[in-house]
Amino acid sequence: MKSSLEDTLLSAIRAIPDYPKPGIMFRDITTLLGNARAFRRAIDELVHPYAGTKVDKVAGIEARGFILGGAIAHQLSSGFIPIRKKGKLPHETVRVAYSLEYGLDEMEMHKDAVAAGEKVILVDDLIATGGTADGAVRLLRQMGADIVAACFIIDLPELGGRRKLEALDVPVRTLVAYE
Ligand code: PRP
Ligand code: ADE
Repeated sequence: MKSSLEDTLLSAIRAIPDYPKPGIMFRDITTLLGNARAFRRAIDELVHPYAGTKVDKVAGIEARGFILGGAIAHQLSSGFIPIRKKGKLPHETVRVAYSLEYGLDEMEMHKDAVAAGEKVILVDDLIATGGTADGAVRLLRQMGADIVAACFIIDLPELGGRRKLEALDVPVRTLVAYE
């Protein structure tokens, strides 16, 4: 049986068939973000295991990870690191190529965004193949970050992203899954 949290979140997330490519069922969280109760519950649920833990920075993945990551960083009194698609950051960066459920891209982080040994929580809205999150883990670890966890509202378990991150010793927290 689904919990009331799962019911609240699942009913607030919209499905868009064949976006951005034929065959992809896109899980659209803009409807969840526009629902004050669902948005607050999602943030509270993602944050609560880390309340009282020292978290230096929250790293959010462009674009939807920025919205969630900003709210989570505020709740944890942490700094925020934007991990952006290539060419968007103004200072010296580290860059990685990655693949995701529907394409290939490159992402970047400022070289001075994290100091060696800092404790970081990685945040995005959804994990599918895990290619995007894996790229972010590589960037953060390249600069010496200690990744405490990776948090997502949505898991698409059939695509294997959680297993990919767990194999890298990154604990994964997700709130709802679509089989
Ligand atoms: C979506 C989502 C994750 C990624 C997950 O972002 O927000 O970042 O895909 O897929 P993966 O686990 O297969 O890597 P998208 O690239 O669509 O970017 P956007 O948030 O800028 O729309
Ligand atoms: N990123 C990768 N796969 C996705 C999906 N099915 N819905 C939303 N974002 C995604």
